[in-house]
Amino acid sequence: MCGIIGYTGHRPAVPVVVEGLRRLEYRGYDSAGVAYVQRGELHITRALGKLSALEDKLAQSPVTMATTAMGHTRWATHGVPAERNSHPHASNSGNIAIVHNGIIENYQQIKDDLLSKGYVFHSETDTEVLVNLIEECQKTEPDLLQAFAAALRQAHGAYAVCLMSKDEPNTLYAARMSAPLIFGIGTGENFIASDIPAFLPYTRKVLFLEDGEIVRATATSYAIMRLEDLSPVSRTVQTIQWDMQAAQKGGYRHFMLKEIFEQPRVLRDGLTGRINGENNSIALAELDGQPVPERLHIVACGTSYHSGLWARHLLESWAGVPTQVEIASEFRYRDHLLLGKNDMVLVISQSGETADTLAALRIAREQGVPVLGLCNVVGSSIAREASAVFYTQAGPEISVASTKAMCSQMLALALIALYWGRRQQRLSPDEVSAHIRQLDALPAALEAALPAMHERARELSRRYAQARNFFYLGRGLCYALALEGALKLKELSYIHAEGYASGEMKHGPIALIDPSFPTFALALDDNLFPKVRSNIVEVQARQGKVIALTNPGAALDVDDIWEIPALPAPFSSFMALPALQLFSYETADYLGKDVDQPRNLAKSVTVE
Ligand code: M6R
Repeated sequence: MCGIIGYTGHRPAVPVVVEGLRRLEYRGYDSAGVAYVQRGELHITRALGKLSALEDKLAQSPVTMATTAMGHTRWATHGVPAERNSHPHASNSGNIAIVHNGIIENYQQIKDDLLSKGYVFHSETDTEVLVNLIEECQKTEPDLLQAFAAALRQAHGAYAVCLMSKDEPNTLYAARMSAPLIFGIGTGENFIASDIPAFLPYTRKVLFLEDGEIVRATATSYAIMRLEDLSPVSRTVQTIQWDMQAAQKGGYRHFMLKEIFEQPRVLRDGLTGRINGENNSIALAELDGQPVPERLHIVACGTSYHSGLWARHLLESWAGVPTQVEIASEFRYRDHLLLGKNDMVLVISQSGETADTLAALRIAREQGVPVLGLCNVVGSSIAREASAVFYTQAGPEISVASTKAMCSQMLALALIALYWGRRQQRLSPDEVSAHIRQLDALPAALEAALPAMHERARELSRRYAQARNFFYLGRGLCYALALEGALKLKELSYIHAEGYASGEMKHGPIALIDPSFPTFALALDDNLFPKVRSNIVEVQARQGKVIALTNPGAALDVDDIWEIPALPAPFSSFMALPALQLFSYETADYLGKDVDQPRNLAKSVTVE
């Protein structure tokens, strides 16, 4: 979590850094701050709350023409959101300052040692401990690079850190360990940031730093070195293909709404080059030459975990691969029965940086199990460390609540199930052709349905926005969607919502139902429809109000019917998913919540 950016070049650096922080705000927005050197003094400005608070403060300070600066946007870990805990943090002498993303696990031990040497601390952060450790190391290693490396060698945990000194006003130092850090190479200017959009208006040329690397940069030079011995590292420069427009709102009120409406495009892009609608063939170059696993373990968090739960049905029924799905934070602390190379671990992560998912990947690799990474962000840690990567190609997802990423993950997983099913000869050529035809028709069908879906979501949100609790019920594929619908509602509108397997309600949760506790039932026209209908009746018998998301012609008598166009399962899920997203979006917006940046959350969860 947290976003960091450093700039050194020929422009006034503070506006570049603040603009970069705006594009990193999805990583946290508890506080923000910048540092730069002017007339031999290190200047730090910090403000609690969103970036606009920092901008207000900067507007009241004298304008600086410094051409090197660094900044930070925070998601609190050590220490409450408060100005004293905001970054940058300066050392006791005020000579050096750092911004940091991650957690220094042995900070207390280091802090105790520094306290015994007379250091004082003004915050509760591990970051202030680290900057003072660097200062302490300078007593024996006057060269700042050497001192920085010596301090980092003592720090255990995760960090992406950027360092400035008043003695070298036009130099940035940075290092990475288990937290993302990307180096951007401009003309007469260089950047260091947690994510590419931070500097995308200036350069598309990037270097992905690896764990255990340290970089020293000026406007016209840079050197990457290994932390352990400062030996040089050579790295190929990569060129990013995104444009900035993809990272802007494009006329929508919120990024979330834009990203929901991008889903037909996401489906098209995800299918391009992978299916051929003319001869109904499927080609997944990423998986060619790899055996179909005997057992699959899907590991992920949040929405990505729901994609995995959804896909299990297809991986088992189409591909015949026994599949388990587990939350990464649970998986990583369990004894595993992974069976070597015939098993496969499939990690799913939009960001490719989720700490628990990355840890699960590393456990599997240590045990010699192949890991397939399903990621959106190109060059992310998971994409680079997996044995093979399958990109979901959703484009940048800016809204903290994940929407189009899930659509792209479900599509990719359906394609994988189809591809393995064909290779295992579990699906006949006719079945494969029929599925490919359905997939091919999906983007246009969704595009046509979205405007009416949005309208209905708006109507229903007004009717139910005052509810304090919600159940989301579904079975089979729709159970995973019910979990996702509930997650979206709670994270955006702060209404308590529980996703439940509808058949499980009678084992306890139904006790909660009363007229003030509505249920959102996923009752699509599939083989489980009669079962779901019975569960709906059970809720109604307890005076529970019901919204039923269903297909035209369904024989249901509920408070609110929401019909979406009928498609055969599992493709109907691609229609139901945006309906759930739109309902949560409209409810949160109606209640005046911050849709793109809900409280207490961050887009990329790089701490455990
Ligand atoms: O980047 P990832 O897919 O690994 O992220 C996983 C979760 O943190 C993420 O899906 C989270 O649950 C979102 N807030 C859901 O909207």
